[in-house]
Amino acid sequence: QLGLQTDFIGQNIVYYDTVDSTQKIAHELSQKGAEEGTLVVADEQTGGRGRMARVWYSPKGTGIWMSIILRPNIPLQKTPQLTLLTAVALVEGIEEATGLSPTIKWPNDILINGKKAVGILTELEAEADQVHSVIIGIGINVNQQIDEFPEAIRNTATSIAIEKGEKIHRALIIQKFLERFEKWYTTYLEHGFKPIKLLWESYSISLNKTIHARTLSGTVVGKALGINEEGALLIETSEGKIEKVYSADIDIK
Ligand code: BTN
Repeated sequence: QLGLQTDFIGQNIVYYDTVDSTQKIAHELSQKGAEEGTLVVADEQTGGRGRMARVWYSPKGTGIWMSIILRPNIPLQKTPQLTLLTAVALVEGIEEATGLSPTIKWPNDILINGKKAVGILTELEAEADQVHSVIIGIGINVNQQIDEFPEAIRNTATSIAIEKGEKIHRALIIQKFLERFEKWYTTYLEHGFKPIKLLWESYSISLNKTIHARTLSGTVVGKALGINEEGALLIETSEGKIEKVYSADIDIK
């Protein structure tokens, strides 16, 4: 019913009205051997999960709450590249569906007019160095109005409808995203990360700016130079040292 033009991404869709978390369902399906590209979508999540053990607010009917099951034949250290690839596909899919121009804030927030509209959560099932499956969770704020967001995030969050000034069909965004995703995922499996890295850098708003990266072991301040092969952010400090940051929240100054 999506008119979806993909070979395998989203060809098997598992839909729920209400679920605790599509991530959880996707993990269960993956363990039962669900095929690559299986998409779990819910109209509402009662236990939506965000990065760093945060809650992801997932009200009924207004957003896209979905998880994709992948089975790439890549070593464990390369899986962050898939998060960056997902961000690229989201920027392009949302742009195609709405005409808006989203940007990426490292590592994986998609902003529209400077506010967060999309979050990505990548989770792994692996044994030793071998990846069994990668579950990519995506939350897109589509048709919420500003007063529907929890007070705590009203200044920093937005939805596509708020930025566009009109409501958008969620199915169109899912379709355009999945098509871009399959294109870049197959390109990635054939040609590696390089083409994705270049696109990611061109959509990023973090690069060449002074940023504060809050990591578990302290704050790194400096100029964001780019990302490396592993998806780490390279930050040049005032002493001229280049720090690699793998996981952090960043503020752009
Ligand atoms: C973030 O913290 O920015 C990532 C948010 C990811 C939310 C999505 S919604 C669908 C999937 N199911 C979840 O429980 N979380 C992800």
